[in-house]
Amino acid sequence: MGGGASKNSGNPGGNEENLEHAGGQLYVSLQMDCIKHNRELVPHVYGSVPLIGLWDPSKALAMEREATSRWEISFVVPPNHETLEFKFLLKPKHSGVPCIIEEGSNRLLTGGALQGDARSASFRFTERDETLEYRVYINADRVSPVDLAASWRAYQENRQPSVVRGIPDVSINPIDTTCLENASAASLELELEHYEVPPPASCANSGTYYAANTTETPRSLRNGGNFSSSSNVNITKSFMSKALRMNVADDSIISEGSEALPPDLEEMQAASGVESKSVGTHLSLHKQDSPRGFYVDRGVSSSPRLNRSGSSLKKAFPAASGAVAAAAVADHMHGPKEDGQLAIVLVGLPARGKTFTAAKLTRYLRWLGHETKHFNVGKYRRLKLGLNQSAEFFRPDNQEGVDARNEVAALAMEDMIAWMQEGGQVGIFDATNSTRKRRNMLMKMAEGRCKIIFLETICNDEAILERNILLKIQQSPDYADVTDFEAGVRDFKTRLANYEKVYEPVEEGSYIKMIDMVSGQGGQIQVNNISGYLPGRIVFFLVNTHLTPRPILLTRHGESRDNVRGRIGGDAVLSEAGELYAKRLANFVNKRLKSERTASIWTSTLQRTILTASHIVGFPKIQWRALDEIYAGVCDGMTYEEIKKNMPEEYEARKNDKLRYRYPRGESYLDVIQRLEPVTVELERQRAPVVVIAHQAILRALYAYFADRPLEEVPHIEIPLHTIIEIQMGVTGLQEKRYKLMD
Ligand code: F6P
Repeated sequence: MGGGASKNSGNPGGNEENLEHAGGQLYVSLQMDCIKHNRELVPHVYGSVPLIGLWDPSKALAMEREATSRWEISFVVPPNHETLEFKFLLKPKHSGVPCIIEEGSNRLLTGGALQGDARSASFRFTERDETLEYRVYINADRVSPVDLAASWRAYQENRQPSVVRGIPDVSINPIDTTCLENASAASLELELEHYEVPPPASCANSGTYYAANTTETPRSLRNGGNFSSSSNVNITKSFMSKALRMNVADDSIISEGSEALPPDLEEMQAASGVESKSVGTHLSLHKQDSPRGFYVDRGVSSSPRLNRSGSSLKKAFPAASGAVAAAAVADHMHGPKEDGQLAIVLVGLPARGKTFTAAKLTRYLRWLGHETKHFNVGKYRRLKLGLNQSAEFFRPDNQEGVDARNEVAALAMEDMIAWMQEGGQVGIFDATNSTRKRRNMLMKMAEGRCKIIFLETICNDEAILERNILLKIQQSPDYADVTDFEAGVRDFKTRLANYEKVYEPVEEGSYIKMIDMVSGQGGQIQVNNISGYLPGRIVFFLVNTHLTPRPILLTRHGESRDNVRGRIGGDAVLSEAGELYAKRLANFVNKRLKSERTASIWTSTLQRTILTASHIVGFPKIQWRALDEIYAGVCDGMTYEEIKKNMPEEYEARKNDKLRYRYPRGESYLDVIQRLEPVTVELERQRAPVVVIAHQAILRALYAYFADRPLEEVPHIEIPLHTIIEIQMGVTGLQEKRYKLMD
């Protein structure tokens, strides 16, 4: 077959010259496509030049799949081949033989021009008496060797990782065993303790942290109110009355015995005097075109309403920049369909990590600038009905208990909706909501007021459940007065069984189901009927988050020469003190993470952080552009004194609103938070320890995220030099330690 080699004209040397004169090498690109392509066969090409096998099918070049039914290959024919002869063949994917060679004569490319007809490639399968046709596209361009070399160089360069002064984005210093100290674990402990300093009083150390305790307090209890037994009755009735007036208590609620409404609702409500104010407020708003109450027309124009100042407007837009701000404005302009008010309604049996997930999501959304609140129905129940409700209370056939639980759920939902109508954006409604009936009630209450997404947490891992149950007995105020731990566990397990009897997983509406995702190892997330900016971000966050504890070490770079001069920004190297810190930090990291199987070191792309990490050995180091210090724009490199003297208005503006102030041509803290979002999500996703070596503003923003500090505080958080802040995230909340290695 095709016995002839490539055709060179009489004098090969002269021919090469001619071809080079004519413009150099031939860049050949071949494509084949066939809808009926057999997946087991790979298209190849072979022919007259060594590169494509010199007519040896075993040396044929495999084509690459470009699309489902399209294959392609490109190669360069050396200049001494005036005529290239070739053919296509199909080879079995795994063995390479036997192969099927296309029918017909060899294809010829002479000096880049195709000879003969442009024909398709037909392959005959004799056994099946079948012919398969492939469409063929052939292109040949002359390229000068110089261009070719240049494009190859560019290709190679693009393949190189980016570097900062020769240090690639991902690098690792090998361990020099002579540097490592042979200290025992005990003495290391002692040494670390030696550097420990107390965190500032405002820090987030959680102690006996129980996530539900930090959630919203019922409105009626604010300003010194209380759930006295008489007001309890009134609140219930008030809620039910409201449900009626809101047109949300449809037949399903009224007819279901436990939630039947008393006939004298109005009277009771009038008598109660409790909560009626908030009802009035949100009912009247509901009647208006705008559920948020500040928006009259929804036209898309640069109408002054977008510039209106006033508290309601301020509240309606999140304290955010970049993507979050753009999404908020778009949602307002799109009108009700994309309305900003979103209720994330948790669903799941007890001890499934609902409250922790809700707390995490609240923290994340708040940090991004979305007005978010966490409403925990358990807290409402405890405040209204007291602690010490035994498992009996949760029996599905205990009508009184069912009524009471529905009542507090409705009360919390009512508060949440009222808060949204005052400008709140995302309400996280945390309860079991484990029956369809309960969820229907919530959906009815939300109708026309906010969009509901159910977030169901399912956990089938017995070990995790056991752990969660033990934590519950240790931490939940429900068991605060139970002195017999075992009795507490038994009671809680009976409560769980009571819930299981009537549990109905979510199958309705918009929902996100997290199945066995607590550990961060595998699991599943199911999403139904979810769209829009914020729901999308929430899903992305939930996919990446888990509750496996691991330390995160935050530190600023060692002192830089600009720090010494008082200059902001820049890309200075370390001062002598900074160098010393870099060495001490390496020693510290080595000791602190000695027992960890793996860990990674993250720096910015600025020299001072890379140099600070330079002595750390044995762990991969990753440079993040997103970790670079806040960019001071035209003020970069100046001292605060210089800014005050030369740009007094800028200085004052920053002093007045440091969170939102954006340096001319630079960034604000809100900008920084936006660019740090991928870093935060990646930190959430990591299961091994991470050491983050970054800068003051960056660490303020990251610390605020983990410590759940309000945005307004971010620019003022204390992040001293030469100090390591170790935070440990887990189901028991955030634990913080600080180590001061030097002044
Ligand atoms: O001064 C060190 C520094 O990291 C500067 O580079 C940066 O502009 C500044 O801190 C950020 O802190 P602040 O927001 O308080 O100015």
